[in-house]
Amino acid sequence: MEKFDLRKDSTLFSAKKIGAMMVKNRLVRSATYEGMADDNGLVDNRYVALYENLARGGVGMIIAGFAFVQENGIAAKNQTGIHTDECIPMLKKAVDVVHRVNENVNFVLQIAHGGRQVDSDLVEKMKNEPLAPSSIADKSIGIIPKEMTIEDIEDVTQSFVTSAERAKRAGFDGVQLHGAHGYLLSEFLSPHMNKRTDDHGGSTENRLRIVTEIFENIKETCGKDWPVLIKLQIDDFVKEEPSLKPPESTEIARRIAEAGFDAIEISGGIYESDEKLDPWNLKVKNADEEAYFLPYAKKIKKIIGETPLILVGGIRSFMVAENIVKDGYADFTSMSRPLIMEPDLPKKWFNKLSDKSTCTSCNRCETEMNKKGLSCLLLESKG
Ligand SMILES: Cc1cc2nc3c(=O)[nH]c(=O)nc-3n(C[C@H](O)[C@H](O)[C@H](O)COP(=O)(O)O)c2cc1C
Ligand code: SF4
Repeated sequence: MEKFDLRKDSTLFSAKKIGAMMVKNRLVRSATYEGMADDNGLVDNRYVALYENLARGGVGMIIAGFAFVQENGIAAKNQTGIHTDECIPMLKKAVDVVHRVNENVNFVLQIAHGGRQVDSDLVEKMKNEPLAPSSIADKSIGIIPKEMTIEDIEDVTQSFVTSAERAKRAGFDGVQLHGAHGYLLSEFLSPHMNKRTDDHGGSTENRLRIVTEIFENIKETCGKDWPVLIKLQIDDFVKEEPSLKPPESTEIARRIAEAGFDAIEISGGIYESDEKLDPWNLKVKNADEEAYFLPYAKKIKKIIGETPLILVGGIRSFMVAENIVKDGYADFTSMSRPLIMEPDLPKKWFNKLSDKSTCTSCNRCETEMNKKGLSCLLLESKG
């Protein structure tokens, strides 16, 4: 039985703050790589149109796909850049369009360094070798990264800070640090990828150091009220020990909240993950398989106090999302693939035109992405 006469009475469509920023509902578009930039990381009008559509579709906050903070931090072909001032004008155009079509939509840029997880074709074009906390090859790509010196760590930290400041100049409402999925910041967090013996390795505190330093420096440069969020790795999903997983990742979330991050979105998996362990490969066939990181959220929400928790991963239906926020397991629900297929899914849910996304979680939007950039390949193949 439908519980609401009007979905506007639901918790999912009620407003809540992230730091100083009011978000009009609890539906977030999780960062999704667009593949719409040229070789210099400059996006074009496809990017503007993508975000205009999402802004019209009713989502409360949009997190744009990962943008690389320095030339050496690119991870994928045609990835968006935020590493130079030349990136600003087109990003600003997208931000202005988003805010013009719906002034209540918050638009946040995810900023990232690819670390050792870089597309092998790109490595040849790089001025310097790929960087990582330790010189351990990613088994899925085979590239042996350079172990970062203290100067490299300071340089990357500064690149995150200047990139955040550029994002602010472009008009974004905040940034999200990409601290998940095996890219550089999650490489530092993980004992599977970080074997350093200096102040950036060993203890949990040491492995977290680069993240908190970037956070503090961004706040100092961009102002304490300008939101800084994080997508945080909670499980590497590898068989080898040690790796990042609870209870250590839960403790990291507690420390991140204590440091003052404006919101935490939890996620997991790296390129090397065991396919059977990583729930991202699930086809999400029924409500029981939805929200596959919910067990982690239930634990983390209890210990991060008032810091808003964003839950992503396999959320497909209105009632599942509604119950997550109503029961207080997370403050926001976040989706990627359903909003590639139906950018107007939030509006459809609000107007009772849909109860569930039609996305099959086939993952073709990622594995078969073509030169056109992000799109639902299932829809396209149906014509
Ligand atoms: C095509 C594609 C691109 C993605 N790009 C990013 C990204 O840039 N940054 C990120 O944190 N996650 C990225 N993800 C992961 C999603 O944000 C999300 O965490 C994951 O797909 C699970 O959510 P879903 O079931 O709603 O798709 C991407 C996923 C897809 C399918
Ligand atoms: S390609 Fe598959 S996973 Fe991607 S949006 Fe379409 S149906 Fe969903």
